[in-house]
Amino acid sequence: MHLGIAEPPIQAKEGSQVGPNLKTIGSQKDRKYLLESLLNPIAQIAPGYGLVSIALKDGKSISGALDKEDAKQITVRLPDGKTQSIPRAQIATATPPISVMPPMLGILTKPQIRDVVAYLASLKAKTSTKK
Ligand code: HEM
Repeated sequence: MHLGIAEPPIQAKEGSQVGPNLKTIGSQKDRKYLLESLLNPIAQIAPGYGLVSIALKDGKSISGALDKEDAKQITVRLPDGKTQSIPRAQIATATPPISVMPPMLGILTKPQIRDVVAYLASLKAKTSTKK
């Protein structure tokens, strides 16, 4: 899920693939990281979510989320959810991965950002609000 911030606990079945699942982000990242991801999303891109645009030597271009890369090829997740591996030998240029997440300062006030960080930090594995 992503952005399911209205009512905790967040349900895994909600949300979309636009961004990473934040259901247990509080167990994975500290508040400093969470704050940075809200203010400056491009600083650290969650694996599998950086958008790249690749120009091929034959003139075609491919855009999608960078799934993985190694010395031989780059694998991109396309908008339809399929993945495509492109041999580096066919690539003319590739952009560095960017985040599609908008920076939150300007959208949210500083106190609201503090609240969101506190909320995200509270999203831990195996916790429940049921008492
Ligand atoms: C209040 C609203 C939002 C909150 C609290 C939020 C929170 C976060 C956090 C904490 C991460 C880092 C996850 C990690 O590193 O594991 C993240 C990444 C991401 N978010 Fe959001 N987000 C918000 C709005 C949005 C919106 C509006 C979009 C897209 C339209 C978006 C798209 C993404 C994407 C694609 C990533 C992965 C790339 C990256 O790490 O920058 N987010 N978000």
